[in-house]
Amino acid sequence: MDYRITTAGDEIAILPSLLAADFACLGHEASRAEKAGADALHIDIMDGHFVPNLSMGPDVVAMAKRTVNVPLSVHLMLANPEKHIEKFIRAGADVLLIHAEVEGDISGMLRQIRALGARPGITINPGTPVEVLWPYLGDIDEVLFMSVNPGYGGQKFIESVLPKVRVIREVIQTRSLAVDISIDGGIGLETVTPAATAGCNVFIAGTSLYRSVDMAKTVHEMRVRAINAFRKVRE
Ligand code: DX5
Ligand code: ZN
Repeated sequence: MDYRITTAGDEIAILPSLLAADFACLGHEASRAEKAGADALHIDIMDGHFVPNLSMGPDVVAMAKRTVNVPLSVHLMLANPEKHIEKFIRAGADVLLIHAEVEGDISGMLRQIRALGARPGITINPGTPVEVLWPYLGDIDEVLFMSVNPGYGGQKFIESVLPKVRVIREVIQTRSLAVDISIDGGIGLETVTPAATAGCNVFIAGTSLYRSVDMAKTVHEMRVRAINAFRKVRE
């Protein structure tokens, strides 16, 4: 599949997060995001250990793969991601995001993700310093900044993560790295502009998209705001 999220790290992408969908009809909800103009679909996987909540597993990823034609960005909030990487890629994950806070050989996991044919990404929580990312920048296609503490949708955006985004945007531009910067948690029409101004180009949004009256209109408006703000970052 043609993966529309850029590998040049400079295009805007809007990703609805299935966690905020109506679980009574997940397939329909995945299609609803695709029809609304989503560039990809974000799927949150939680294990009740790394985060307090439980959410979905590989079968939901496989269902989404059968149902929509946009790429699947799979966010592993798992204490032991290495045990599950292969399963999620076989199920259809196009992007696999692991957390920098987990124990184990993170560089090895990122290389495994790439070797199995998916795009590797590293995620950091709001309280994790940006410096932990330095060892991984050569192994990834995406850095995901959590702008809420992971585990639940519908939380308030934590603006104090934006200085970390600015640091990574600067490094990426200076070194001309093909890395996307994504942000997840509390993203909506009000927060997309500050996030894009700080240097994010991929926006993950659950509540603000799935609970909006007109998802297509909100995706479009979010995209317009992101493009306008991000253009200034690239100037
Ligand atoms: C939180 C998840 C997010 C969540 C975002 O742990 O990683 O992807 O769906 O939800 P909103 O957009 O409602 O903050
Ligand atoms: Zn997520």
